[in-house]
Amino acid sequence: MRLIYCCGVVLLLTLFSRVSHGGNILVFPIEGSHWVNMDVLLRALHSKGHNITIVRNSKSWYVKENSTYYHSITVPVERSLGEEMITDLISTMIDFERGALPVTSFFNMAVGMMGTFIEAHRIISEFASAMFDDQELLRKLKDSNFDLVLTDPCWGHGIILAKYLNLPLVYNVRWLIAGEAHFSLAPSPLSYIPITGTGNTDKMTFLQRVKNVMVYLIGQTQHHIMVSQTYQKLCEKYLGPNSDFNELSLSADLWLMRVDFVFEYPRPTMPNFVYMGGFQCTPAKPLPQHLEDFVQSSGEHGVILMSMGAFVSALPADMTNEIAAAFAKLPQKVIWRHKGDRPANLGNNTLLVDWMPQNDLLGHPKMKLFIAHGGTNGVQEALYHGIPVVGIPLFFDQYDNLMRLKDRGGAQILTIHSLDKDNNFLKAVEEVLNDPSYRMNMQRLSRLHRDQPMKPLDNALFWMEFVMRHKGAAHLRTESYRMPWYSYYSVDVGLFLFGVFLLVLTTVFILMRCLYRTVCKPKVKQE
Ligand SMILES: *[C@@H]1O[C@H](CO)[C@@H](O)[C@H](O)[C@H]1NC(C)=O
Ligand SMILES: *[C@@H]1O[C@H](CO)[C@@H](O)[C@H](O)[C@H]1NC(C)=O
Ligand SMILES: *[C@@H]1O[C@H](CO)[C@@H](O)[C@H](O)[C@H]1NC(C)=O
Repeated sequence: MRLIYCCGVVLLLTLFSRVSHGGNILVFPIEGSHWVNMDVLLRALHSKGHNITIVRNSKSWYVKENSTYYHSITVPVERSLGEEMITDLISTMIDFERGALPVTSFFNMAVGMMGTFIEAHRIISEFASAMFDDQELLRKLKDSNFDLVLTDPCWGHGIILAKYLNLPLVYNVRWLIAGEAHFSLAPSPLSYIPITGTGNTDKMTFLQRVKNVMVYLIGQTQHHIMVSQTYQKLCEKYLGPNSDFNELSLSADLWLMRVDFVFEYPRPTMPNFVYMGGFQCTPAKPLPQHLEDFVQSSGEHGVILMSMGAFVSALPADMTNEIAAAFAKLPQKVIWRHKGDRPANLGNNTLLVDWMPQNDLLGHPKMKLFIAHGGTNGVQEALYHGIPVVGIPLFFDQYDNLMRLKDRGGAQILTIHSLDKDNNFLKAVEEVLNDPSYRMNMQRLSRLHRDQPMKPLDNALFWMEFVMRHKGAAHLRTESYRMPWYSYYSVDVGLFLFGVFLLVLTTVFILMRCLYRTVCKPKVKQE
C-alpha cells in the first residue's frame, strides 16, 4: 500500500514536472526523406505543447513556410538543393549501375560524386552565411530564448548556429557528414562492424575486412576534404579562429539515433545515444475508400506494394516495362507508386498512384510483399509491420539497409544491373511470395522490435524534454571528442612506456656489462 502511494506521488511529480514546462525549440531540418521523419518528431513535440520554430531557406523544396504546428524563419538564398539537382544525380547513378562497372568509370563516378557532395555542402554553406550575415535575424534568434536546437547533422549549419547561440544541441541522426554516426564517437572495431557502402554484414571474411577498412579510410579522407572546404571555414569566420567543426559536431548533448538493434548489428554505443529506430511507424489507420476497395478485390491472393521512394520519380522505360509485364503475370493486386509515363503493358491488376499512405498499406492484413528501394524509412516500416521485402537499391545506404533484412532471412535484393535479365524480377517476387520463411522471419523481427518498455517516439520525446529540463546533458558526454587522436588511442602513452622500457633495458644491460667486467676480468688475470 505504502509502495503504491509512493509510486503515485512519484508519478504525479513526474507528470507535473513534465507538463509544467512547454519548451521553446529551434529546428534546422534537412530536405527530402530526412524532412519526412523530422516532421514526425515536430508534430509530436507540438502535440506535447512545445513551441517550434524552424529555419528554412527561401528555396526550400520540402519544408513549407506556413504550418499549423511550427513557426518558420525564412532565410533568402540564391540557390538551394532543388529537385533538379537530386534527379540529375539519381539518373546518373542509375545509368552507372546499369553499365558494365569498369574500374575507370567507378573512379570517375567516385570523383564526380565527391564533386557533387562538395557542391551540395557549399550550397548549404551559402545558406548558413546568409543567416550569419543577417544581424537582425541573429538578434531575433538570441532574443527568442530557445531551450535547445534540434538538427539533422547531415548538414553542418545547425551545429554552428547552436554553438553561436550557446544552446544545448540534440541530433535526429543516422548520418554525419563523415558517415554513419556511431563511427564518429563510439568505439568501432572495423573487424565486426560493417561500414555502410561495403555491403558487409557483421560476419566478415578476411577480404571483406580489407574492404571494410579501405572504405572507412576513403570515407574519412572525403570527410576531411569536404569539411575543410566548407564548414571549417564558416566556423572560423563566425565562431572565431580556434573553433574546430569536428569537435563541435561531436559535442552534441544528445544523439537520437534512427536505428535500433533489431535492424542494426549489435555494437558498442555511448551514454548519450538514444535509439529511436521505427519512431515514425504507427499501427495502420483505415485506408481511403477507393484503396480499401482495390485491396479487398485481391481476395485470398493479397496485395503487393511497390515504391522507389520520394526522389525516384521515373525509372528508365525498358525497366518499367519489364516490371509491369512481371506484375501482369501475378495473381496478386499491385499498388505501384510511379510518376513517369504509364507502361503500355500494364496489367489490369496493377494500380498506378502518385502518392499513397504507405504505413497504412503496409499494416493492412492483405499486404503480402513490399518492393522498395531500401531507404531507412521504408525498411523500418516493413520491419515494424513484418512484411517481407524485395529490394532494388540505388545508392547511399540502400543496399546495406536491405542487406540487414536479407541477412536475417526477410528480403531478396535485386540490382538494377540484373533486374531486366532472365526474368530476375519475376523470379525474386515469386520466391518471396511463395516461400513462407521470408514472412515468418519479418514477423519475428517485428515482434522483437515492438517488445520495448517504451515506444521509440515517446523515448525520444522524454530525452528531448530531459535536455530542456536540465539545460543540456553534459554529464552523459564522454571527453573523447576533445582529444587529439594520439591521446585517444594512447599512442603518446604507448611511446612513453616503450621509451621507459628501453631506458630500463639499456640501464640493466650497461650495469650487467660493468658487473661482468669488474667480476670476471680479475679472475682471468689470476689464472
Ligand atoms: C514561439 O515561437 C515564436 C517564433 O519564434 C515566437 O514568436 C513566440 O513568441 C513563441 N511562443 C512562445 C509561447 O514561446
Ligand atoms: C504564408 O503565410 C503568410 C502570412 O500569412 C502569407 O503572406 C504567405 O503568402 C503564405 N505563404 C504560402 C506559401 O502560403
Ligand atoms: C483482366 O485481365 C484478365 C486477363 O487478361 C482478364 O481475364 C480479366 O477479365 C481482366 N479483368 C478486368 C476486370 O478487366
